Amino acid sequence: MAWFETVAEAQRRARKRLPRSVYGALLAGTEQGLTLTDNVRAFDEIGFRPQVGDQPAERDLATTVLGQDISFPVLISPTGVQAVHPEGEVGVARAAAEAGTAIGLSAFASRSVDDVVAANPQTFFQTYWVGDRDRIARRVERAREAGAAALIVTLDWVFDSRRDWGSPDIPERMDLATMAKFAPEGAVRPRYLLDWLRAGHLPRLTVPNMADPGEEPPTFFQAYGEWMYTPPATWADLEWLRELWGGPFMVKGVTRPDDARRAADIGADAVSVSNHGGNNLDGTPGAIRSLPGVVDAVGDRVEVLLDGGIRRGTDVLKALALGARAVMIGRAYLWGMGAAGGPGVKNVLDILRSGLDEGLFGLGRSRVGDLRPGDLIVPDGFSRGPQPWAAEETPRPKSD
Ligand SMILES: Cc1cc2nc3c(=O)[nH]c(=O)nc-3n(C[C@H](O)[C@H](O)[C@H](O)COP(=O)(O)O)c2cc1C
Repeated sequence: MAWFETVAEAQRRARKRLPRSVYGALLAGTEQGLTLTDNVRAFDEIGFRPQVGDQPAERDLATTVLGQDISFPVLISPTGVQAVHPEGEVGVARAAAEAGTAIGLSAFASRSVDDVVAANPQTFFQTYWVGDRDRIARRVERAREAGAAALIVTLDWVFDSRRDWGSPDIPERMDLATMAKFAPEGAVRPRYLLDWLRAGHLPRLTVPNMADPGEEPPTFFQAYGEWMYTPPATWADLEWLRELWGGPFMVKGVTRPDDARRAADIGADAVSVSNHGGNNLDGTPGAIRSLPGVVDAVGDRVEVLLDGGIRRGTDVLKALALGARAVMIGRAYLWGMGAAGGPGVKNVLDILRSGLDEGLFGLGRSRVGDLRPGDLIVPDGFSRGPQPWAAEETPRPKSD
């Protein structure tokens, strides 16, 4: 594999290697892409206060998240990598294991939780609230039996799929008619096609972790349809899920301090401050802007993670200095995967690790846990909230 230097370069290569519709599915975003853009740009508003002299000759990047020892505070955020590369999430899991870190595995992933745990025992299974409690219980029990080390429940999804730049055409399944339709896209991406030819099959576009035991894996769209017709989870449902699981539990998709407190109240061990990578309610501020408010509210009760917009080691540094215990990455590794499969993911993790290490050196910090807000220059109004005219607590229907 030809090594690349930055995540931006991985993205350029992924764009060249992947068929247009696959690239478009990873780019994702919604509406105008305000949140998609702000997730990345917000980091640029934060500056550093480097220190010289007495810098630590060696830095310790290791930490723990949800009881797992990881070699540096960057985890793989759950995404379904259907059709990006034949190895799918197994390739991602292996790269994460080589880098000494954990992977969040989406229930909408293309590979089974058993295969992924075999590649990386530090697998956190992620589910949405899809189907009734019995079905959800069977899904998470299957993940437990496979050996998943934690459960992530993702709450921020509003089913918006409009994009001003146009949404990719994603087929239901890869049959002959679909192949004929997508042939022109594939023909101009020979290296991508070769990867699949070598693997001996085409993208299956199924989601095995959404199947009941003994059931054929549903297609992505079948499972998505079930989700659309599932009544949204109440906090009482989530408390039930938390108790059922019993082990380490993360709520992903929190931006507001009051929601973070609710997650802590139901017994979550961690929250991820996240807006689903800008794929959700467009106009939500960049995730890093919401981090300080959540850290203030629950930082002493739960582990606070952040995902959204991480493209460089210095982004990780900024999130940690603002109080995150670790970050999760989405597109950064998807671009690595698209550019070069599993080794591309490892390349991305290496980029983030060295960037973080250099940043610690520059700030004169020997351990990631020593980073402080005072290491940064954060402009006034950065968090953009809570606004004086907006009540923090929205009245809501009782959930139980
Ligand atoms: C193509 C794609 C698929 C995703 N699928 C999931 C998913 O299945 N479950 C989930 O919790 N988050 C999902 N996400 C959100 C990511 O876990 C993460 O929150 C987001 O990508 C972080 O932003 P970043 O891409 O800027 O790093 C997805 C994101 C992308 C781009």
